[in-house]
Amino acid sequence: MTQNIKKIQVMNGPNLNMLGKREPAIYGSLTLDQINTDLARQAVPLGMALGFFQSNHEGAMVDKIHDMFEEEIAGIIINPGALTHTSVALRDALLLMSCPIIEIHLSNIYKREAFRHTSLLADIVAGQITGFGHYGYTMAVMAMAVMINDD
Ligand code: DQA
Repeated sequence: MTQNIKKIQVMNGPNLNMLGKREPAIYGSLTLDQINTDLARQAVPLGMALGFFQSNHEGAMVDKIHDMFEEEIAGIIINPGALTHTSVALRDALLLMSCPIIEIHLSNIYKREAFRHTSLLADIVAGQITGFGHYGYTMAVMAMAVMINDD
């Protein structure tokens, strides 16, 4: 039996390219490249191929989602960074997509400043994973595998 490999897009928003250097007490010491390398490996036995995209620009995130709208994407794992709390444009773009979306944060946004307690994506995603550091990305990949193989 040939396995149908599902394409999952992992998206990271502003400042997440600085992981490893950026406030390591909050965000950990791994770089985004290290996290992505581990994730790509973890996805293989789960029948998923991961694409990776990071941008510091809201419009570039929106454009990437428009590109995905034209592709066969089975799921999206997104850490929108600060855009979580501010971006109606990102929310509206994600509403185009019919695939499952998992929101992930390295830190627990609900334990931090009040302005981080609101996610403009919370009610349009399948679920949030927040506060487990880089392991949250692994949890998101595992959750995505369960969601997309459940049909
Ligand atoms: C973050 C939390 C956001 O509040 C913050 O702006 C980030 C990272 C996280 O992964 O914990 O850039 O999304």
